[in-house]
Amino acid sequence: MKRRSFLKSVALAGGAAATGSLRAQRGVVPAPSDTEITLRPHLAGLTISPQFYGHFIEHLGGVIYDGIWVGRDSKIPNVNGIRRQFIDDLKAVSAPNFRWPGGCFADGYHWRDGIGPADKRPRTYNYWQQNTPQEVRGIETNQFGVHEFMNLCRQTGAEPYVAGNVGSGTVKEFHDWVNYCNAPAGTLSLADERAANGDQEPFKIKYWGIGNESWGCGGDMAPEEYAQLYRDFVTQFPNHLPAFLIATGPRGHSLDHDVGWTRGFFEGMKGRKSRVDGFSLHYYTDFRQTKFQAAKFSVPEWYSVLLKGMAIENAILDNWAVMTEFDPQHQTKFIVDEWGNWYPPGEEIAPGFTISQPITLRDALHTALTFDIFHRHADKIAMANVAQTINCLHSLFLAHEDKFVRTPVYYVFQLYQAHMNGRVVPMEISGDQQSVTAVEGPAKMPLVCGSASVKGAALAVTLTNPSLDSPRAVRLQLDGANVSEAKAQVLTHEDRQAANTFAVPNLVSLANLPVTMDGAYVRVTLPKQSVVSLILRTS
Ligand code: AHR
Repeated sequence: MKRRSFLKSVALAGGAAATGSLRAQRGVVPAPSDTEITLRPHLAGLTISPQFYGHFIEHLGGVIYDGIWVGRDSKIPNVNGIRRQFIDDLKAVSAPNFRWPGGCFADGYHWRDGIGPADKRPRTYNYWQQNTPQEVRGIETNQFGVHEFMNLCRQTGAEPYVAGNVGSGTVKEFHDWVNYCNAPAGTLSLADERAANGDQEPFKIKYWGIGNESWGCGGDMAPEEYAQLYRDFVTQFPNHLPAFLIATGPRGHSLDHDVGWTRGFFEGMKGRKSRVDGFSLHYYTDFRQTKFQAAKFSVPEWYSVLLKGMAIENAILDNWAVMTEFDPQHQTKFIVDEWGNWYPPGEEIAPGFTISQPITLRDALHTALTFDIFHRHADKIAMANVAQTINCLHSLFLAHEDKFVRTPVYYVFQLYQAHMNGRVVPMEISGDQQSVTAVEGPAKMPLVCGSASVKGAALAVTLTNPSLDSPRAVRLQLDGANVSEAKAQVLTHEDRQAANTFAVPNLVSLANLPVTMDGAYVRVTLPKQSVVSLILRTS
């Protein structure tokens, strides 16, 4: 069945009037609904920070080189060496931040290698070259350094978040980097050096990570050892502006969510004055030790990935509970600075694109479920960064030479943009959970997942139907408000494995979805395996 007729048949099955019109229709005879959703905008709570929809980009495989950096002399359309399409598409989803330069790369990176005349920059060792055939790429050319990174941030309007080198760098090297970036020209010599390299204005970088995965590739440390090093790195931190300092947090996808790291770190910080603004949480929906594939999967494998993705909520709750013991006022918030699906190797997008993988509709639904969880925990999370934006694990884009494609994940970022700066609206979803069969055995999962937020008179509602079998008719009711207009968009495809490829770039993309209004109710039918966004005008 073609995509258009799939959507139309789904809409008719749900009893909605499928006119294709964007406007909701009044007076349509209500069809029975499977799921009732009640929204209470008058009880709206915390604001959804735009920083939840942030990015992580690392010097790894095809992420920076080829993906983002094509070079100033490239025939590929670019802005000062940065792929223009990447900039344009990220601006279109209001990308709020980039975490850079790693990842495991960060703790081997020496920032001075990436400044000064491009042809004089050294070729250096990249942590990832051990996994990457050197004939294709791997050795670090340092053509993309901090000035190029800041140019990317300026072009996209995103906030920079720099991960410092704790694993193999010194405190002085780190502080020099901060001074180079943030001191006003005409003050420190390092600031004048920055100006001589083309940037008179300070970079004003607020977010600084003190290492990355210090329990692993970032230093193989015990949490108490890291706490000591953390204090060494932050005590004399050059304060040119109010900075936000981020400590390495747990490996959240470990079976016990790595709460031992969290406890050990905060034990090590007990009674000390050093500030910890952010505590990094990594959560990979990690299938590296399995036979799962990114592009081809069975029905149980679909549910396994979504269920394991949703378990990020347990990693948040379990680690938060430990943090509460040490920091009851919660001065420290989570920075979920690496999250996404990670399948076993073997499906790389291009030669040398280490840990890149195809992205399907399954990854898109996982994205929506993850964002809903971030919204629910808006009190605990200050920022999140998808790993990684392009040519990697849970990517929004795939690019190779002059080819570029938006993945289904990109469109979820587009749908959820409506939540940025909205206040979380309590949402009650009726009905039981559904029984599904995952690879691990029978399991339960919600019939419908979702979240809602309000900004002035606009209510944004995002809903996911994870079922591979059936559409779901939904009736939304607003407590204390009427709806004067409703619009809906959907991301779905009849093939659960649908992906956008260089050959077929637009197989999965957004479509309008019929929505009806009757009195205080809004009705919409969620196609099977879909993410739906509604924008409701209230009166
Ligand atoms: O995103 C890929 C890698 O995963 C990062 O470099 C590292 O921090 C994590 O283990």
